[in-house]
Amino acid sequence: MRWHPRKLLRTKNLNSILAESDNPLHGLKKVLGPFDLILLGIGVIIGAGIFATVGTAAAGDSLRPGAGPALMVSFAITAVVCGFAALCYAELASLVPISGSAYTYSYATFGELVAWIIGWDLMLEYGVGSIAVSISWSGYFIGLLKSIGITIPAWAIAHNLPAIFIVTVLTILLVKGIKESARFSMGIVFIKLLVLAFFVAVGVFFVKPQNWVPFAPNGFAGIKAGAAIAFFAYIGFDCLSTTAEETKNPKRDLPIGILGSLAICTVIYMVVTAVFTGIIPFSYLTTALSHQKAEPLALAMQYINLNWAMGIVAIGAVAAQIAVLLVLMMGQARIFFSMARDGLLPSFFSKVHPKFRTPYVTTIITGLLIAFFAAFTNIEEMVDLTNIGTLFAFVLVCLGVIILRVKEPNLDRGFKVPFSPLTPLLGAGACIFLMTGLPTISWYRFFIWLMLGLVVYFSYSIRHSRLRKEKS
Ligand code: ALA
Repeated sequence: MRWHPRKLLRTKNLNSILAESDNPLHGLKKVLGPFDLILLGIGVIIGAGIFATVGTAAAGDSLRPGAGPALMVSFAITAVVCGFAALCYAELASLVPISGSAYTYSYATFGELVAWIIGWDLMLEYGVGSIAVSISWSGYFIGLLKSIGITIPAWAIAHNLPAIFIVTVLTILLVKGIKESARFSMGIVFIKLLVLAFFVAVGVFFVKPQNWVPFAPNGFAGIKAGAAIAFFAYIGFDCLSTTAEETKNPKRDLPIGILGSLAICTVIYMVVTAVFTGIIPFSYLTTALSHQKAEPLALAMQYINLNWAMGIVAIGAVAAQIAVLLVLMMGQARIFFSMARDGLLPSFFSKVHPKFRTPYVTTIITGLLIAFFAAFTNIEEMVDLTNIGTLFAFVLVCLGVIILRVKEPNLDRGFKVPFSPLTPLLGAGACIFLMTGLPTISWYRFFIWLMLGLVVYFSYSIRHSRLRKEKS
């Protein structure tokens, strides 16, 4: 067959995508309801973002100015950006209720090349995001052990050994099955909500309104940089769309799960940030974070001399991040799985476990890669890279809604974005705006990653694509 540039634009037919999920060899069990989804949503959304990156977002670092108390505004701005993207995700997820997230949607809208780019890009969100969270978890876990008198050797700390441990445990859990994992995550959701409520209830008595002045010490530049980091705290609502294939009634349940969990988390973040910045003066925070690595919410408790409360917050942080890691790893394994099912990655990856009905091969490979990279990378860089990659995927999702409305106007949409194309366009623009708030070095890394993806695509995937074989 002769090669033609048009082949890069071949799109999957939506009906064939839907039929595929019914294939007994590859299909996944449909077990999740709306309540499971909201819990999974909160489970993956609230994690390292509020427990760890909030410190850098408020104080700034060598790469960016801090938002100060105006971090509350940053969270509100980012929530609006995510809201636009969430609406677009909900429409696409209700239309294409298949495992694989933005990757699958783009296969039906932009064609194979862009689908590949998104699938590759989403590895930054799920895969690199998992690395960031596992490193952060490792730090808190080491701190917790230290508080009860157990000291981990320096070499183990340097290589984030606890991260390797937790990633291994979660990999086993995910191979065993999503329903069990959802239940596990549910218990943790309650712990983290309780701990954040505890932080607010205790901290509110120590808030000094004068700490909110000046409100925005670095002006809008600080607020914008804060919003670009705070974005990490929202990542996850979109993971819910990767479970569409395992959801009982995706058309109704997915929009409820995605928008519901996003709204709940926004309120929590703004309240926690108000208390956090009301307790610690900006000048103290910038000095403290410039010479020590500290968990910000625990630092706030330490600042008001409540060391016992610091321990409680630390336990919550450890628990919260396990749930986040679980869902991010699940998303990564399922994107791998979808790409392999389409022939863009070797078919070996699309194996489903005969007993557990889970994509066990991709789950295990995901676990191995995350554990490996967690051993020698740095959390701030991983967060920036995750954010830029995810925002880029969101831009394409927003544009995908517009394209699909034109290409397939009559398809049954369980959920429709209001005021399209205005809302999706605003969403795409807002995501690009946040991307410009990230450091230049992250842009370089992002482009290198995308270039690497193109090399893989043109040297392997383009020749093995199932769609190509079917259409030739
Ligand atoms: N939103 C997730 C977190 O904050 C990724 O950890």
